[in-house]
Amino acid sequence: MGAQIIDGKAFAAKVRGQVADHVARLKSDHGITPGLAVVLVGEDPASQVYVRSKGKMTVEVGMNSYEHKLDPDTSEADLLALIAQLNTDPEVHGILVQLPLPKHLDEDLVINSIDPAKDVDGFHISNVGLLGTGQKSMVPCTPLGCLMMLREYHGSLSGMDAVVIGRSNIVGKPMAQLLLGDSCTVTIAHSRTRDLPDVVRRADIVVAAVGRPEMVPGDWIKPGATVIDVGINRVDAGESKTRLVGDCDYDSCAEVAGAITPVPGGVGPMTIACLLANTVTACCRANG
Ligand code: GUN
Repeated sequence: MGAQIIDGKAFAAKVRGQVADHVARLKSDHGITPGLAVVLVGEDPASQVYVRSKGKMTVEVGMNSYEHKLDPDTSEADLLALIAQLNTDPEVHGILVQLPLPKHLDEDLVINSIDPAKDVDGFHISNVGLLGTGQKSMVPCTPLGCLMMLREYHGSLSGMDAVVIGRSNIVGKPMAQLLLGDSCTVTIAHSRTRDLPDVVRRADIVVAAVGRPEMVPGDWIKPGATVIDVGINRVDAGESKTRLVGDCDYDSCAEVAGAITPVPGGVGPMTIACLLANTVTACCRANG
């Protein structure tokens, strides 16, 4: 095992500490408490776990948490009405609609009905456009967390070859934009990429965000490269137990890589820390 482990759990705790300090100052100096509204439609078990965890950490850093749990058969009109109400609520500085939504709801329509200034996920088309053109925006939390870890480990990323595996709107595409913004040479690879192993072998930085358990083996990794594993996959561990694994085969990748994020304890905790940081940012921008 040669790779240095990038401890996302410890880094996230540090970021949450900074957020808590900022929240305390907003309260004491300005009488403002940042508030985050999380909307969950339906009963997807993984989403319920994420939402509970977001609510708990929001309160832990001193912010107000507003949870809206809606029936799986909630109509689009009712969901849009709730978002319209949250958009105008001065106590709510950030709004997050947990994805995926049930099939009968139009995800793009719903996300784009959020006030872009409160869109702490950075999924609104205005924020996507601002990020793509290098303007001030709300930045999606998972890619932002990955970027923060990469900057912490490397300092400057300028001139590095980065390969992002996965082209989702939530992770792959914004991750590529952020790496480009830090002057990496960026390749976005995906399920149709020809000779994926060779593409990945060129990379100084590999970000794996495909949602396929242990898909990337160590012999795809250039010796000394940095591996950021965004995957959180639950797999069978025998005796009716499960365990969490990433998109990379941790043991073989850690033998070759220079640095690697573990699963769990890597990207996951950073995502929530960045959500809290985005909420404080939204609150500060709203209050001048
Ligand atoms: N579902 C999986 N990841 C995310 C995320 O970052 N934000 C939201 N809203 N839903 C998700």
